[in-house]
Amino acid sequence: MTAAPRPARGVRNNDSEAEQHRLGLESGCLGLFHWRMTSFWTSKRIRLRGIEPGDGAAFMRLTEDEERSGDVLHPPRSAESYRVRANELAAAKSDGDCFRLAIEAVDTGEVVGAVGSHYADPNAGRFEYGVTIGADHRREGYAAEAVVLLLRYMFAERRYHKCEAKVFAYNEGSLALQRRLGFVEEGRLRDHVFLAGRYHDLVILGMLADEFTRRHPVSEL
Ligand SMILES: CC(C)(COP(=O)(O)OP(=O)(O)OC[C@H]1O[C@@H](n2cnc3c(N)ncnc32)[C@H](O)[C@@H]1OP(=O)(O)O)[C@@H](O)C(=O)NCCC(=O)NCCS
Repeated sequence: MTAAPRPARGVRNNDSEAEQHRLGLESGCLGLFHWRMTSFWTSKRIRLRGIEPGDGAAFMRLTEDEERSGDVLHPPRSAESYRVRANELAAAKSDGDCFRLAIEAVDTGEVVGAVGSHYADPNAGRFEYGVTIGADHRREGYAAEAVVLLLRYMFAERRYHKCEAKVFAYNEGSLALQRRLGFVEEGRLRDHVFLAGRYHDLVILGMLADEFTRRHPVSEL
């Protein structure tokens, strides 16, 4: 789905008045202006937002683009099934620290990917995460920024201690992303998944809260 361009957020303090006017945030909208500057969920290139009912088509494209990133090849699904699923997710009650968010490009408002946390265990202080970026939007830094926002929320706001990422050994792009973010390989489950006629290893990577904070200080974004 290509959403109508929306006002970019996360624009810095020194915006010109003309720029503020363009964004519809001119003086008088003090609340909005304040909110715009402080949104936790916006970085340089992306904004994370909740799933909306109209996101079905975007999620269909994302799923098709990541056909070979998972451990199971699914039969094609109808556009209607994605529309229904987006409606369900948009209306779903909060599931605590397990959630999915759409990744929007700040400059166009287009949905370029999705990110989410799952298997969050507050007792152990551990969670996993997943991210996917549409094929046309890769290598533009969207995943890295989205994951940093997600991890910052889980570590600095929700007090989690460790994030785990499980990546199929053939997914070199994802392994490179995890390492770039600071994840450390902790183990490898041999011949763990079956895909495309043979077995593949599953690589387990982890990052601790203080490792994340050293690399990505709170003031960075
Ligand atoms: C893996 C994926 C999420 C990366 O998204 P992306 O937006 O392209 O990643 P970024 O642009 O933020 O990349 C950040 C860094 O990660 C590394 N990286 C990302 N993709 C890479 C690739 N295909 N090959 C080598 N390095 C890669 C690079 O170091 C990159 O920095 P650089 O571009 O300055 O060199 C994307 O390829 C994707 O959605 N793949 C399909 C779904 C998937 O595999 N999800 C992860 C499941 S665990």
